[in-house]
Amino acid sequence: MTQPLRLGIAGLGTVGAGLIALVQRNAALIEARAGRPVTITAVSARSRSRNRGVDISSYAWEDDPLTLARRDDVDVVVELMGGEDGPAKALTEAAIAAGKDIVTANKALLALHGQALAEAAEAKGVALRFEAAVAGGIPVIKALMEGLAGNKITRIKGVMNGTCNYILTRMEDAGLPYDTVFEEANQLGYLEADPTLDVGGIDAAHKLALLSAIAFGVQPNFDAIELGGIQQIEIEDIRAAADLGLRIKLLGVAQMTGRGLEQSMTPCLVPADSPLGQLKGGTNMVVIEGDAIERVVLRGPGAGAGPTASAVIGDVIDIARGLRLPVFGQPAASLAQPQAARATASKPFYLRMTLIDKPGALAKVAEALGNAGVSIDRMRQQGHADTRAPVLVITHKTTRDAIDHAVALSLKTGVVVDEPVALAIEED
Ligand code: HSE
Repeated sequence: MTQPLRLGIAGLGTVGAGLIALVQRNAALIEARAGRPVTITAVSARSRSRNRGVDISSYAWEDDPLTLARRDDVDVVVELMGGEDGPAKALTEAAIAAGKDIVTANKALLALHGQALAEAAEAKGVALRFEAAVAGGIPVIKALMEGLAGNKITRIKGVMNGTCNYILTRMEDAGLPYDTVFEEANQLGYLEADPTLDVGGIDAAHKLALLSAIAFGVQPNFDAIELGGIQQIEIEDIRAAADLGLRIKLLGVAQMTGRGLEQSMTPCLVPADSPLGQLKGGTNMVVIEGDAIERVVLRGPGAGAGPTASAVIGDVIDIARGLRLPVFGQPAASLAQPQAARATASKPFYLRMTLIDKPGALAKVAEALGNAGVSIDRMRQQGHADTRAPVLVITHKTTRDAIDHAVALSLKTGVVVDEPVALAIEED
């Protein structure tokens, strides 16, 4: 009989329990497609007694995940513990040292330590797979590493944090302020234990760093990503965007510019009728542009037990089939040190400022923009009842650098109250 592929699962939260349910439910079809049975031999988590809604009584229990990684009856270590350092990193390193293949959903770990881990895994000849780390159930890693491997990728754009997309679309649909919707998301259990990972754009930026590595043949470089969260977005921004036929998304953009690889994960405005603009709730979308394919749009569930387990089992089946790929699609040692370009791509910007309502205030701000080389396309002073005047500016194409300079000069005029909000408009 064909030898089964034996999994050791570390971490039995929502995804771990979902993976066990999927392996049990679809055992026959997984075996047919993998060419051999896929079984679970051992599990490890913080609490043994917690009810997870799945039967784990037939699996060996390990209190220490490192012991699980070293078991002779485990072929593949599935790391579902999360966390950028600590136990998840130690487990992954132990699994590589023990010669085990690894499947992980851990975007933070790979965004920060992916290069070293990939080099170690490739030196040892083990697989390190991470489809579940990016955009949940969407097979975007596989698309980039295999189906689109012959393309020169020119740009990747995407909504890769479902929680932020839920908050932004709920604000628009219900006309509710950010704080109220944030609390709703909290009650619904959508937020990470540290919500800043979601609303600060960090979780999504981890994912973008991994996509960039594959797409552009560079070492993952989270620190090079321009980062902005959605905490600054007010219901007035959502309404103003809607008036302009636009929607606000926490959007990741990675593109090769003349000056190097530019990566950002920031709130941006996109056309309301575009695929990205139409994206509602917790769904994710990744748009990949390549020289041969032009544009591919992938859309699907970005989180949750079923979708994430689906991505994990897809990687496991590849390992069972004997498919061996470099971690980031080409040997880790050949990945370039990315030349990081920041804030150089040219695009229009949305600028919201609140001014003291006195003669000449608007002129001073317009002069500040002009002095920074920023040209105004449209400008609107919104209705107001007190001594503050909200002003909305849409600029002609310019760079983030120029906008930051314009904001700094505007603040020096003494007529701007509150921190201005400057969002790029991604038109196409
Ligand atoms: N918090 C993440 C999200 C889960 O909302 O998309 C998957 O990383």
